[in-house]
Amino acid sequence: MTGARAGEALRLGVAGLGTVGAGLLALIERQHELRIPGRLEVSAVSARSRSRGRGVDISGFRWHDDPVELAEAEDVDVVVELIGGSDGPARRTVEAALRAGKPVVTANKALLAEHGVEIAALAEARGVHLLFEAAVGGAIPIVRSLRDSLSGVIAARVSGILNGTCNYILSEMLRTGAAYAEVLSEAQRLGYAERDPYLDVSGMDAAHKVLILASIAFGARPDLPQVSVEGVDRIEAMDISLASRFDYRIKLVAEAFRDASGVTCRVAPALVRIDHPLAQIGGPLNAVIVEGEPVGRLTFTGPGAGAGPTAAAVMGDLARLFDGPATAPFGAPARTLAPLLSRARVSQERSAFFIGARLSDRPGVLAALSEALAEAGVSIDKLIQDSAGDTGAAPVAILTHLCPRAAVERALVRVSELAITADVPRLIRIEARA
Ligand code: HSE
Repeated sequence: MTGARAGEALRLGVAGLGTVGAGLLALIERQHELRIPGRLEVSAVSARSRSRGRGVDISGFRWHDDPVELAEAEDVDVVVELIGGSDGPARRTVEAALRAGKPVVTANKALLAEHGVEIAALAEARGVHLLFEAAVGGAIPIVRSLRDSLSGVIAARVSGILNGTCNYILSEMLRTGAAYAEVLSEAQRLGYAERDPYLDVSGMDAAHKVLILASIAFGARPDLPQVSVEGVDRIEAMDISLASRFDYRIKLVAEAFRDASGVTCRVAPALVRIDHPLAQIGGPLNAVIVEGEPVGRLTFTGPGAGAGPTAAAVMGDLARLFDGPATAPFGAPARTLAPLLSRARVSQERSAFFIGARLSDRPGVLAALSEALAEAGVSIDKLIQDSAGDTGAAPVAILTHLCPRAAVERALVRVSELAITADVPRLIRIEARA
């Protein structure tokens, strides 16, 4: 089947009953309050543990230990994949459903980022829906807005804050002045960060999401190794506090942009001025900015994760199944998606930069730092140096004028040879003014 007719019931198989799966089952119970053009019935569910307490009653649904069996079951019309992970059971379930000609609704960004082309091609070959609004930005309706409502926009850049955990950590480091490790463990204690935070703090989760947006906005082929990815784990509280004295916030910015050579994707910390829309996004919120002709700039913001927001996005996709035949998952057919440019291109950028470091408190050290920058042709715009107090190392922050990234990197190699810092300096791009 390719969808359902208004008024019909769709029989769902829900694979994965974690936070989002449980949130979806709770929302399905309230479907009479929603604007779904037909009825949704859960036929079957599958998860790792049948007995785990979830706050929702699953006793009325057929249970499958194996989600692939669920995908192939006679009484399942649509598969909702909420297992997660780029391979293993999630991939097998999605592929089994599509092969059986069943629509799939998924929140799985890793799967789409790593195997999106093959999976989209399979959905297209079978003529079935593969919908994934919940994969990017939680409740923010960015996937279908970009694909459908904004198909009349010539996108130049899609950027934003796509990981709530990192944004929460950076916001808390600013608010409390606490170190990264301390804020991360508090975030884990409160349940904002996963026990294994790698995907979030490494920037990889945001990379998955920005790839999905790039594939829709620019017809770029999802190709994870070509995304330049840097996380938040090297940011120091002093960087955040000194940037703030220059009227900047440090955010983990994910971006995809098109220039004459093609499309580039990257995730990295960036300084944004306090009057930039991304500077206002605090705590676990997400935001996406779409820039293009002839609209200028559109900003979307909202909760990017959590049971309710993500389940609402899944529901929106389920409603779409009543709304006519499937279209290509990424907008453009999978076989026409063009290669991304190499991530090495990022090193060729020109930008203004922030450098944060602790300078050894000896005569001539600040002069040596500025000389290293001067020798590399990097001009200093602003500089703050705080007292070392009794620590022996003085926090310093420099904003450079526009210059090639390669030049600042060269200067920092020289700084390392001179052994004048007590830590490894942080080099952070400054986002152009809004
Ligand atoms: N872990 C993600 C975040 C949400 O912190 O934003 C799911 O992708």
